[in-house]
Amino acid sequence: MTSLLVTNIGELVTWDDERPVLRDAALVIEHGKVTWIGDRTAAPDADAVRDVSGAAVLPGFVDSHTHLVFAGDRSADFEARMAGRPYEAGGIRTTVAATRGATDEQLSANVARHVAQMRAQGTTTIEIKSGYGLTIRDEARSLAIARQATEETTFLGAHVVPEGTDVAAYVDLVTGAMLEACAPFARWIDVFCEEGAFGADEARAVLEAGTAAGLEPRIHANQLGPGPGVQVAAEVGAASADHCTFLDDADVATLADSGVVAGLLPGVEFSTRSPYPDARRLIDAGITVALATDCNPGSSFTSSMPFCIALAVREMGMTPLEALWSATRGGAFSLRRDDVGHLAVGAKADLVVLDAPSHVHLSYRPGVPLAVPFRS
Ligand code: NIG
Ligand code: FE
Repeated sequence: MTSLLVTNIGELVTWDDERPVLRDAALVIEHGKVTWIGDRTAAPDADAVRDVSGAAVLPGFVDSHTHLVFAGDRSADFEARMAGRPYEAGGIRTTVAATRGATDEQLSANVARHVAQMRAQGTTTIEIKSGYGLTIRDEARSLAIARQATEETTFLGAHVVPEGTDVAAYVDLVTGAMLEACAPFARWIDVFCEEGAFGADEARAVLEAGTAAGLEPRIHANQLGPGPGVQVAAEVGAASADHCTFLDDADVATLADSGVVAGLLPGVEFSTRSPYPDARRLIDAGITVALATDCNPGSSFTSSMPFCIALAVREMGMTPLEALWSATRGGAFSLRRDDVGHLAVGAKADLVVLDAPSHVHLSYRPGVPLAVPFRS
């Protein structure tokens, strides 16, 4: 079979410049790419036809921020938080111990399980970070395992300073021997720039060393309080600054001027019972906003992009269409990808058929498994 016509689409979201959302539409897929989009009645002939009975068809979700390589469980931390205890970045060390103690097979099986959950909920592109190894061996194997699942792998050796280690010595390791061992398995370099993790100078050193080794920078910024993360992101030309929960006016202006994508991760605020980032303020300033799950065992153990879309709409003032854009096209911008996150002619045919007539149902019917992956 060389061409497939998907027809009787009630609502087709393409993000094409001319016609971003079409009603009563069809599209043609050839060799894994979209080759035609338009009105159902004008569709060309194809080798095979799939009638989706008025369903909405959307671009697959692009989850631009996850930490899937880990072992262990931190449900007790979550339980304690729900009883009033605050989230602490130091909890990362608990997962580091469990991850170091796991075999490659156990870590691979965990990644595969989470990736399968994501795909079952409509995610078609996934970024995966290391960051629970924090030794040369454990960071390198984390990235090698992540690479089995995706090209979008991120070296996050600078997640937290391991217990009993001096910060300066650890930054030397991350920017030296650890980077050298990890760079072959990574596309991106990341750092957790936050009180209790890494400061501005350390973050800059990590991202600059990564860039010199051929990786592209991104950053965890302004998650738990105000800080220099967004400014560092702009200085080093990062693709995205993720979290962006505590921003001052200068940070917002910096994001707007630099073109750095703001990655919002509302699963974190949900799971840590914290105030949500102000998406409206960012969108109104003309900043590109991406939505991602941040799937990790500490601050946001959800693999569901539809859940994050629902939170963005209900809690962050985004319209359903804005939230969908940020979960697809916005995620693609965050990963500097033009082939995914949209369904214009030429894009990869990574599409999701909703068991619903419109994208609005993603937030109107939270928790309902509506996003069905499409197999051509
Ligand atoms: O993105 N902020 C840093 N890292 C993760 C949390 C990791 C953890 O608590 O295990 C995050 O929220
Ligand atoms: Fe994260």
